[in-house]
Amino acid sequence: MEDSSTPEARDEWAAEREAILAAGTPEELERARTRALGRQSRLTEALRRLGELPLAERRERGRVLNRVRAELEALVAERAAVLKAQATARRLAAERLDMTLPGRRPRIGHWHPVTQTRRRLEDVMLRLGFTLVSGPEIETEWYNFDALNMPASHPAREMHDTFFLPAGRLLRTHTSPVQIRAMQAAGGRLPVRVAALGFTYRRDDDPTHLPQFMQMEGLVVDHGIGMADLKGTLWAIAREVFGPHAEIRLRPSFFPFTEPSAEVDVTCAVCGGAGCRVCKQTGWLEVLGAGLVHPHVLRAGGYDPEVVSGFAFGWGVERVAMLLYGIDDLRLFYQNDWRFLSQF
Ligand code: PHE
Repeated sequence: MEDSSTPEARDEWAAEREAILAAGTPEELERARTRALGRQSRLTEALRRLGELPLAERRERGRVLNRVRAELEALVAERAAVLKAQATARRLAAERLDMTLPGRRPRIGHWHPVTQTRRRLEDVMLRLGFTLVSGPEIETEWYNFDALNMPASHPAREMHDTFFLPAGRLLRTHTSPVQIRAMQAAGGRLPVRVAALGFTYRRDDDPTHLPQFMQMEGLVVDHGIGMADLKGTLWAIAREVFGPHAEIRLRPSFFPFTEPSAEVDVTCAVCGGAGCRVCKQTGWLEVLGAGLVHPHVLRAGGYDPEVVSGFAFGWGVERVAMLLYGIDDLRLFYQNDWRFLSQF
């Protein structure tokens, strides 16, 4: 063994060696390497000063320093390999697929509560033997008013706060114009038994009225249709929609397009008829307008009121949704607040 291998000689470079071995990150290792082998390092300085030594010492010292340099370089490479292996192991541990972790559930959407209600009503009407039809939301004054026995001078026309459009068009204020279109489409054939659901428009905006809302219209035309048919059908619908204990009650009313006309109440869905805040302690909720189709309306649809008769009814889909879901502000349906909509 040469002098350079003695513990004393090794100790001269112990600080450099330890710094390399202690490096915990690539950055620390690079700092230790610079300190041990860089241009400012003691080793480089010692090599530079070899020339100052007498020849005999110079050779020996040079051999030692070169071996130390090789040793330190090997140590750096070794440490770098270790750090790299540790980093890989850490990354793999972090990436490991843990099959026992709960999955991340995608948020699944659903039908809007008004659409759910619409589909429920459509379903009920289909099962009762009605055909689903539709009409345009942009209507003519004739279909929306005149054909429904509301001529230009009729005061009822003013009760519909109408959005008028150019060229005698308007946004339909109710689904009743579909009565006329359905009769025309039937072309005199019997029976006419249709339901129409769709958006309607009025210049209203408060907690119980919106400028855009949805209505459902029902129309039956056949030989010998009377109030009993109307009441029986509405009773069946009420039970399907609100439950097996629902009752209905008809109160005399007025619509230009039906005669006689009735407002129809349903047992309060909230209290079951006992009386509560929602039904203002009456046990009843007013839900629809109905009546026997006015002769003028049958005629406008191409049917002879001397030969056939019919009944019609109409109601608000959002109002049904409010009763079904216990919602007290109609506007919530159209504010698109996910926190509200996700509850249904
Ligand atoms: N169209 C009426 C309304 O919007 C409802 C209705 C329809 C009444 C059919 C009677 C018959 O208020």
